[in-house]
Amino acid sequence: MSNILVTGAAGFIGSNFVRYVLRERPDVRVIAVDALTYAGNLESLSDCSGDPRFRFVRADICDAAAVAPVFAEGLDAVINFAAESHVDRSIMGAQEFVRTNFVGVQVLLDLAREHGVGRFLQISTDEVYGSLGPTGKFTEQTPIAPSSPYSASKAAADLLVQAYRTTFDLPTLITRCSNNYGPYQFPEKLIPLFVTNLLDEQKVPLYGDGLNVRDWIHVQDHCEAILVVLDRGEPGRVYNIGGNCELPNIEIARGILRQLGHDASMIEYVKDRPGHDRRYAMDITRITDDLGWQPRIGFQRGIAETIEWYVANESWWRRIKTGEYLTYYEKQYGAGGGIGD
Ligand code: NAD
Ligand code: DAU
Repeated sequence: MSNILVTGAAGFIGSNFVRYVLRERPDVRVIAVDALTYAGNLESLSDCSGDPRFRFVRADICDAAAVAPVFAEGLDAVINFAAESHVDRSIMGAQEFVRTNFVGVQVLLDLAREHGVGRFLQISTDEVYGSLGPTGKFTEQTPIAPSSPYSASKAAADLLVQAYRTTFDLPTLITRCSNNYGPYQFPEKLIPLFVTNLLDEQKVPLYGDGLNVRDWIHVQDHCEAILVVLDRGEPGRVYNIGGNCELPNIEIARGILRQLGHDASMIEYVKDRPGHDRRYAMDITRITDDLGWQPRIGFQRGIAETIEWYVANESWWRRIKTGEYLTYYEKQYGAGGGIGD
């Protein structure tokens, strides 16, 4: 059995990854750590809770004393998903972003050094590269040029991870992925926000001219890529991950409107996001050529299934919109629930 620590495990990608790795790897034990901020939802892992290879620990990655006992168990790998992840929130206030996304990573890196870990995989983002013009793609050599406090905090963490590799020879890896979509995404992000608004007969707020372009990848493909990098990636390297699927936001909006039987009158053009990156596109040659990974889920199928998932799982997102999800942890673990419960 190998032990892996997944931080940020109650978030969108973390919860999908935990489910994926438990399914794919019968010889892996997962210690799932999450602080359960507003974005953490333990209900997203309710189907894993009965698995004897799964354990949840509520802890803040910035709190070394809280996380150290997990490292002391002996870890074959650490995969750090924990982050403040929403760009708009980082524009309202950067403090939590710097704390979790930068200081939290330093805490994890020091614990990894102290206790020794087989692999340390930092989940980063394409946003560290900044914005593209109408042509070209981000490669791993593209200079880092973040635009938002969110992406600046992620870029800073990447530099720290690379410094720990250079200085201490820590077996680090970094993945930088493009925009994910799929089940269990918090309904503040474009796709789940638009779907759930329309299911409630509410308009969808499209920023600026709606022509900003993102490169979309299904979360399942991202999880698969992470496991490939964890298994076969070369320590010290950065791996771009993307869906080969560039789309302007207006196209995403139109597709969701169509599937849910609404017309363009439900789009409300609103003031643009400050510093809004115009276009992202990932060159994934390295991970494809060196590790043999490529995305498999086409966008048409992926988005249709994702919309169906939100339709079929209204209770999951409804409890977020009402705030009821925030009481789930206490109900499962008791009011005094804490480390190692
Ligand atoms: P998310 O906001 O859904 O989940 C983040 C999780 O981290 C939450 O469960 C939250 O409770 C937890 N967390 C926050 N602060 C913490 C702390 N101090 N200690 C412990 N846990 C804490 O985010 P996501 O979309 O799942 O993103 C996961 C990671 O992937 C992030 O690092 C993000 O930068 C990166 N990423 C996301 C995307 C995307 O499209 N969503 C794309 C590329 C990279
Ligand atoms: O590219 C990877 C990044 O993707 C991750 O690192 C981030 O954690 C993740 O949040 C996501 O960032 P974006 O800013 O691209 O995602 P978001 O869903 O917030 O916005 C997607 C696009 O849609 C962006 O161009 C802004 C636009 N948008 C977003 C919202 C929430 C709207 O037009 N209206 C909206 O209400």
